[in-house]
Amino acid sequence: MLVVGNWKLNTTQAEAVSLAADVARGVSDANSGVGVGICPPYVWLEAVVERTAGSPVRVGAQNVAAQDGGAYTGEVSAAMLAEVGCTYAIVGHSERRALFGDTDEVVAAKVSQALANGLTPIVCVGETLDERKAGRVEDVVTGQLAGSLAGVESLERIVVAYEPVWAIGTGETATPDQAQDVHATIRSWLRDRFGASAAQTPLLYGGSVKPANALELFRQPDVDGGLVGGASLDAESFVAIVHAAADAEG
Ligand code: PGA
Repeated sequence: MLVVGNWKLNTTQAEAVSLAADVARGVSDANSGVGVGICPPYVWLEAVVERTAGSPVRVGAQNVAAQDGGAYTGEVSAAMLAEVGCTYAIVGHSERRALFGDTDEVVAAKVSQALANGLTPIVCVGETLDERKAGRVEDVVTGQLAGSLAGVESLERIVVAYEPVWAIGTGETATPDQAQDVHATIRSWLRDRFGASAAQTPLLYGGSVKPANALELFRQPDVDGGLVGGASLDAESFVAIVHAAADAEG
């Protein structure tokens, strides 16, 4: 089980450090085998890495450059993120795909950069409401997987997050059955493409995960944790979601 918080464009430095400290304290008590990650804005990464040192909490970035260096104003490379102490990089989040032009091709380049620099990419896929209504969930999700993982040779260090766009930040969550259906599709696509190691690939669900719905989602056989947005900005809620993952595992 793995639970990762995506803080998006939120927090002052003081808020980030205090949230990180509260999460570190909360999950240390849990003493479980659940992996925990938090993804603050780039500028607070270093402070958050320092504040969580010695705790089970790992730190990730919300994005990464598709290039390894050079004249790319405003970008941050995978090597820089690794140097500052990141473990994870979220890649291909639907907000990046919809608002910042991250095509599958761009996502694939970012995945390659992350892997080449020792980071674990959390590769996001998910359909819009129109695509779901049109019965295209499987097509869309497997198409995004094929494009985003085009340059990947093995599943070592790959995490996939299924985030239905209609469930992100809306308060509307996929039902456990809906999540399990798509996760099973993802698992079987990964198995066809990469073989038996797909059984070990963490498949996270994201989209309005909260303490009240986390346990049911995490109990699904192919749901191996969560990518949590809004609820990760509140330490108590996020820690409760980590505890739900521990309960689902146990
Ligand atoms: P949410 O966001 O939990 O606020 O729906 C999830 C995400 O975008 O990763």
